[in-house]
Amino acid sequence: MKHFVAPSILAADFGKLREEIIMLNESEADAIHCDIMDGVFVPNISFGFPVMHYINKYAEKPLAVHLMIVDPEKYISRFRDAGAETLIVHLEVCNHLNRVVEEIRSTGMKAGVALNPHTPVNLLEDILSFIDMVLIMSVNPGYGGQSFIEHTYERVQKLRMLSERINPDLVIAVDGGVDMTNAALLYNSGVNTLVSGTTIFKADDPKNMIRMLKNTL
Ligand code: DX5
Ligand code: ZN
Repeated sequence: MKHFVAPSILAADFGKLREEIIMLNESEADAIHCDIMDGVFVPNISFGFPVMHYINKYAEKPLAVHLMIVDPEKYISRFRDAGAETLIVHLEVCNHLNRVVEEIRSTGMKAGVALNPHTPVNLLEDILSFIDMVLIMSVNPGYGGQSFIEHTYERVQKLRMLSERINPDLVIAVDGGVDMTNAALLYNSGVNTLVSGTTIFKADDPKNMIRMLKNTL
């Protein structure tokens, strides 16, 4: 299985955002993970469209936008216009997930669904063949730099078993507290994509950290 790394731009130094994006362009990163927080679904507010457009202007990697917001269906086309290749919505805020996923795909974006640490992965069984990615949260969403929840491995394994039966092309990504102590175990559990913020941007050599996370197996 191929392994991918998506650095989370939330941990970047926003005072030199352009340099941080250029660093990612020059790295082995496969995508740039953009965390959008509304202060309602999660107890924090991050950034919005002006910053997204700026990231899109300089990024040469695909943008994966992780919406930690209520009512994500209101903003689908605006995130497409802001350059998102993949749009990820939380299961916990979607009463009509099938409709939201169809709308995302109808704009030409890939559709991802994120799960909080307490949300059972088998709730995805009937949507799995209609989506491109599942983002398993390995921390409670809202902040970078939190500790990895160990129960995540089990959740990844369960989801990988489901996806082998229903959607073998599904990308399984894990987000939160990812570092060199859990990367290999996550890949072994069935993860394709590691999302990582603090570990990469606070490293002495972020490009090398991306290479290490990607090639640890
Ligand atoms: C958490 C965000 C994550 C976060 C990851 O709410 O969704 O993407 O930025 O950051 P680290 O790797 O620092 O846990
Ligand atoms: Zn995220």
